Amino acid sequence: MAGGVGSRFWPKSRNHFPKQFIDILGLGKSLLQLTYERFLNICSNEQIYILTNESYAGLVAEQLPELLENNILLEPSRNNTAPCIAYASYKIHQQNPNANIIVAPSDHLILKEDVFLGKINLALNFASKNDALLTLGIEPSRPDTGYGYIKYKRMDSEYQISNDIKKVEAFMEKPSLDKANEYLRNGDYLWNAGIFIWSSKSIINAFELHAPLISELFKGGLSIYNTNSEQNFINENYPKSPNISIDYAILEKADNVYTIPADIGWSDLGTWASLHEVANKDGYENSVNCDIITLKNTNNCLIQLPPGKAAVIKGMENFIIVDDGKVLLIYPKSDEQEIKQVANEMVANF
Ligand code: GDD
Ligand code: MG
Repeated sequence: MAGGVGSRFWPKSRNHFPKQFIDILGLGKSLLQLTYERFLNICSNEQIYILTNESYAGLVAEQLPELLENNILLEPSRNNTAPCIAYASYKIHQQNPNANIIVAPSDHLILKEDVFLGKINLALNFASKNDALLTLGIEPSRPDTGYGYIKYKRMDSEYQISNDIKKVEAFMEKPSLDKANEYLRNGDYLWNAGIFIWSSKSIINAFELHAPLISELFKGGLSIYNTNSEQNFINENYPKSPNISIDYAILEKADNVYTIPADIGWSDLGTWASLHEVANKDGYENSVNCDIITLKNTNNCLIQLPPGKAAVIKGMENFIIVDDGKVLLIYPKSDEQEIKQVANEMVANF
């Protein structure tokens, strides 16, 4: 999935050049390119589909020149991840009704690639034998309100699931801060990594059961090859879908959700603070990305300035300071979830 806007990463991430296409880690590769390479360890490039908004078709083709043209699936409107996943699922199911599918965001960091591969294989094996919707679960480290929270059953005699796979009791997408704090204290909760594993049969059943409006739209119109008629079908039907994420549309409702706790060195790099967490820092916990800077009494800040720009900063603590040449953002880290809203308000001008 490479069609999001990444607006909590504004002003670096913009509508016309979102986060997944940016080399946010300074590794010489965008997050999309890193994700694509990660999945080449699991399947061949013919089995990788990139779903994105039609306006990013050129960016995807440019960044992944070896990807088959037919494997870039273009969405004519922004309706969030539920219709995006339905589009791919019905298409893949049409080609192979026994297919297993891994759904992955294109903008995450995974440091322990080997552990990740092991968990994915475990999940694929389970998904191919059970009517199960699996998600990788991450041990939460803070009451982040930008994630989905998974309450799992510790020992599940009813399902006889191994220690590695847990039945999910409840799934709560983006809770309030109070709730997130409560889940963290309780201890039986994991974050949803947003990486899902299921058979095409199971996810299609789930759409029919929990999101019939969406399944009606995609049923029967997707051909094996990316023909003009398929694109016409999508152009007509896709925009009619409700604008909803897979988490609200399916995972909160389904009762066959399972999670695999996965210590994979994961960060969703969803916000400036999450980048700050994984970035190199100085002795005062500042992560600084700029040429010339003088810092006094400044702690725990993320600072990014354009090449050649100098800055003198005194007395800042827990702030995001990002200047991309056009926009200067100075924002408390504690309020960073608001940046999405700020970006939306500013988008008309910048
Ligand atoms: N193709 C396509 N079309 N991709 C999309 C769309 C769309 O309309 N909207 C979002 N995406 C992509 C984003 O680019 C990202 O890679 C992925 O889908 C997830 O979307 P986000 O918008 O980043 O979701 P989120 O971070 O708020 O929440 C999800 O991920 C969290 C973990 O990072 C949820 O699944 C949460 O439950 C989860 O905790
Ligand atoms: Mg995200």
